[in-house]
Amino acid sequence: MKNVLTSADQINFTISGLPEMPAPSKVLKVKPTWFDVEYVINPHMKEHVGGVDKMQAANEWEHLVDGYEELGFDVHILDGVKGLPDLVFCANQTLPFIDENNEKKVIMSNMRAPQRRGEVEVIQEWFDKQGYEILQLDESKTATFEGMGDALWHFKRRLLWGGYGFRTSLDAYDQVSELLNTPVVALELVDEKFYHLDTCMCVLNEKSVLIYEDAFTKAGLDMIHKLFEKVIHTSKYEAEKLFAVNATCPDGKNVFIQQGSTDVNKKLRDAGFSVHEFSTYEFIKSGGSVFCLKQMYW
Ligand code: ARG
Repeated sequence: MKNVLTSADQINFTISGLPEMPAPSKVLKVKPTWFDVEYVINPHMKEHVGGVDKMQAANEWEHLVDGYEELGFDVHILDGVKGLPDLVFCANQTLPFIDENNEKKVIMSNMRAPQRRGEVEVIQEWFDKQGYEILQLDESKTATFEGMGDALWHFKRRLLWGGYGFRTSLDAYDQVSELLNTPVVALELVDEKFYHLDTCMCVLNEKSVLIYEDAFTKAGLDMIHKLFEKVIHTSKYEAEKLFAVNATCPDGKNVFIQQGSTDVNKKLRDAGFSVHEFSTYEFIKSGGSVFCLKQMYW
């Protein structure tokens, strides 16, 4: 049944009342061999066409792989593909999930930019090999959907947070909600620098979230505050220049985040999180950081 919520008064559940979902333990990473800024599809890319330091990008990427392995995650690595420079941002082509019967399924994206459409079949083939059931959106009913760029799972609960406005269209969540059999809290994004939900919202654990407030509408903020007990805020500088909100907290305790996000790191430590800083400067040139440089799955 479809259930897309767009205002706080439509929310008639609490987080603890929602069915549980196990947290994923596997991490997919795509090698940055062919990564560069080759076109401009978001404001961060403008100054950086052809400007990626490939060696540096490879180092940054390797450190992230080590970080997940040190935490005990099972990391799987896929080769990059020539001509698909943004394939490294492998959170964007899919929304994987495990349904109520423990079946592994994945919803495929319908990328907005023509330059990124070829990425979807590469990741689809890989999920197919992992035994995932592949689900496609009906393209005649929805304009665009950019996977876990915009669609974020609540930590360990069957609830999806869905950003829309720049990349994903609101109508995509009607189909997504039906396929997942899960409510979707739809959040409109209003600042083009924060074009994906994962640039301005990071679910930390069941009760806590990190956000950049000015990227949302009042209705969106009301829904966030209704469902999270603790909302940690980022400054404009750290959110926009350091992509501090494009962090990840895969186990509800350890946060991987772009280095130098001093203000937010203090807030995270004060709230009891362990903070691990990584340099992702080469990827920030393209508009992405820690979160979107991986896909988590079961
Ligand atoms: N250049 C890519 C794009 O604009 C970056 C994607 C980063 N992904 C993210 N979820 N923020 O599509």
